[in-house]
Amino acid sequence: MVHKKTVMNDADLTAFRVALMEWYQTHKRDLPWRNTCDPYAVWISEMMLQQTRVAQAQPYFERFMTRFPTVRVLADADIDEVLKLWEGLGYYARARNLHRAARRILDEHGGRIPDERDVIAQLPGIGPYSAAAILSIAYGKDEAVVDGNVIRVLVRLFLMTEPSDTPAFRRRAGEMAAFLLWPGRAADFNQAMMELGATICTPRSPRCAVCPVRHLCGTVARMRNPETLPCRRPRRARPHHAMTAGIILHNDRVLIVQRPMDGLLGGLWEFPGGRLQDGELPEEGFVREIRSTFGLEVGGLRYLAAIRHAFTHFEITLHGFLCEWISGERAYPSAVWVTETELAGFAFSSAHNRLMTAWRENATSAQLRLL
Ligand code: ADE
Repeated sequence: MVHKKTVMNDADLTAFRVALMEWYQTHKRDLPWRNTCDPYAVWISEMMLQQTRVAQAQPYFERFMTRFPTVRVLADADIDEVLKLWEGLGYYARARNLHRAARRILDEHGGRIPDERDVIAQLPGIGPYSAAAILSIAYGKDEAVVDGNVIRVLVRLFLMTEPSDTPAFRRRAGEMAAFLLWPGRAADFNQAMMELGATICTPRSPRCAVCPVRHLCGTVARMRNPETLPCRRPRRARPHHAMTAGIILHNDRVLIVQRPMDGLLGGLWEFPGGRLQDGELPEEGFVREIRSTFGLEVGGLRYLAAIRHAFTHFEITLHGFLCEWISGERAYPSAVWVTETELAGFAFSSAHNRLMTAWRENATSAQLRLL
């Protein structure tokens, strides 16, 4: 429990709530999910907004709601189509979980998004953040939301200098957020906290001069540099993997393969290839993988691009090739030959989309086919 008196007295608590909410009413961004209290729209927007900025999520949200306007339409859709609309947003487990959860909501809850914490928390992809966001924004329940933006606001407001990336800290932040929450006004209050973190109390160059709660802020009062907060434990360097992939041409078609549904980038499509072994040249590794995994011989290799991509816990360099099929039958369950036009209908990971762009831009297929 938070010891209220040591954190903030009652007068300051009221002043904080009032100043934040007045600021929010005047300055809040006009966002499509704010003009509705349809729980389905709130659920979709909150899933998109985890790990993704508002500006990036907004067009995705609009396209998604147009194509899948209700739980039922989403539940009936093909996962490939859901992933295609999610393409480029990253963290694809969110899309797969939305789809699975839509089916469960239809089957087990009569198509209504549950409004009880214990029930909603059973759905795929619903963690403490999304449960609190949906329950407060869609149903007005007094649940405090804690995300990265809120943590930054709390840490600076209360000048919390311990590392913020520990489970103990997360618990404490949850208590602080619950302490600040304005009972009965959780929907706006939570969004105001997130909005403050996203637009004023930003990681770098925070705009303290125009902050509505600067007079209550511990960091401002003690003239500490807000940019140094929150403190994090030093991160370990991310491991780096060298990968290969190739656009294999055969009779005006290219071979693409779908990743297993469970796991990283599950359900997305990519060009065949694999991981490089130590000491191997990219072209050697590519030919070896295509032979051993896909049972194909290829030739006429052209190097297209080295594409770097960072995931949460590791980075890759993808060495991309263009080549011709020589022989062999594809011996891989999820591999298909498609025309260049058909490629647009499949959802690709960002690195493989960039490989496709490199193929189209740097070396047009027509030129390369002649080489
Ligand atoms: N980040 C996540 N959800 C948000 C919301 N509803 N408003 C502002 N920022 C958010």
